[in-house]
Amino acid sequence: MSSYDVIIIGSGPGGYVCAIRCAQLGLKTACVEGRETLGGTCLNVGCIPSKALLHATHMLHEAEHNFADMGLKGKSPSVDWTQMQAYKDKTIGQNTSGIEYLFKKNKIDWLKGWGSIPEAGKVKVGDEVHEAKSIVVATGSDVATLPGVEIDEKIVVSSTGALSLGKVPKRLAVIGAGVIGLEMGSVYRRLGSEVTVIEYLDHVTPGMDGEVQKTFQKLLKKQGLNFVLGAAVEKVDATKTKAKVTYTSRKDDSEATVEADVVLVATGRKPYTEGLGLDALGVKTTDRGVIETDGEWKTSVDGVYAIGDCISGPMLAHKAEDEGMAVAEVIAGKHGHVNYGVIPSVIYTHPEVAAVGETEEALKEAGRAYKAGKFSFMGNGRAKANFAADGFVKILADKETDRILGAHIVGPMAGDLIHEICVAMEFGAAAEDVAMTCHAHPTYSEAVREAALACGDGPIHM
Ligand code: NAI
Repeated sequence: MSSYDVIIIGSGPGGYVCAIRCAQLGLKTACVEGRETLGGTCLNVGCIPSKALLHATHMLHEAEHNFADMGLKGKSPSVDWTQMQAYKDKTIGQNTSGIEYLFKKNKIDWLKGWGSIPEAGKVKVGDEVHEAKSIVVATGSDVATLPGVEIDEKIVVSSTGALSLGKVPKRLAVIGAGVIGLEMGSVYRRLGSEVTVIEYLDHVTPGMDGEVQKTFQKLLKKQGLNFVLGAAVEKVDATKTKAKVTYTSRKDDSEATVEADVVLVATGRKPYTEGLGLDALGVKTTDRGVIETDGEWKTSVDGVYAIGDCISGPMLAHKAEDEGMAVAEVIAGKHGHVNYGVIPSVIYTHPEVAAVGETEEALKEAGRAYKAGKFSFMGNGRAKANFAADGFVKILADKETDRILGAHIVGPMAGDLIHEICVAMEFGAAAEDVAMTCHAHPTYSEAVREAALACGDGPIHM
């Protein structure tokens, strides 16, 4: 039996970052992981592989649509799906082995196998029981399936199967117009699939700003994605080669079907805590399986903490990372802090979508007086030169104080641009602070400054 200050269960972005911070703070640390590689869902079957496929297919889109206009003539590249998969797998490997290197560098023990907590202060991995003064549950989430839909990861797939299809399907039906559905839908659309997205709500990307939802859907439609909105999927009937999705219209209860060669189920995720022994241990969870934690990520059992997708809040890798660092500080006797009001969310399509803080809808509902400064990428020289002028930046600021309350971007590099606003919000900045900051020309970031100017006397280039 080995003894540790901290054992973290799960090596996703929450768990591995927590382990590294614990080690940096001088704690003897181990991390339990049952997969063959470190990095959890994000690195192995989530964020990283999907970004590789998004990048490759965006390059293809550029070649097919914009190269000729730039004077780059010749045949568009053809798709070698096997090579694209190999590129994706290589990217995964580089990232997961990078975490292994960081574990070695920080002297973190990787306890290989699936962990459980037989009692407070003990973690069982395989036949071995290890002691730990503190235990952090960072076991992430799993696909939330729909009743009437059975995932076989061949014809009816989750995001995991969608990353490794045997071939590019002729017809792809996507259930759910959330982040996964739209990112993977974009990948296959660019590869030539006929993509139909079936969504329960009357709009895409639940929770996002309404204006962003409308603009984004319009742009995706222009790229060829078909949408069936306000439709509740009831069942999927699959054979060995194709599937039929049956849905009911929420407007008039009529039933209709969509046929496809592959169906992607992207209707959300649920906390993954199976086999940990949480019930027997007395760790409180909600009826939806979310582990209950206090402001310091402590569960109802002393010495057991939880972070990431298995607790409440957005299921985002970077939220888990922040919690991982913060809980490490708490365990080391310091103060850990996460500002849940400033957690960006990004959809890595083209154009990208990024958001932080309040939406206009939330501000209206709360009855807050606000102003909105908006700037279109049509007025941004760099965006026009790069065939990337679709979309806008919108900054929401308090009407009285000018303090930034939120920002919403549809456009090129939105996922990077949003961080200027995140930093501004962390510092409690006003829109004027951003407007008065010199921004290099020509960059996409000028559109952020222009939106900030639009909160005051007005933008220059519009
Ligand atoms: P999601 O919660 O973003 O979207 C699920 C969608 O499915 C919703 O719009 C919902 O209304 C719809 N839906 C549910 N039941 C339905 C039914 N019976 N018929 C039709 N539509 C139905 O979930 P998603 O896209 O699966 O993503 C899961 C999690 O992973 C999210 O928390 C997401 O934030 C995270 N993620 C984040 C990424 C990023 O940050 N870029 C990338 C991929 C995932």
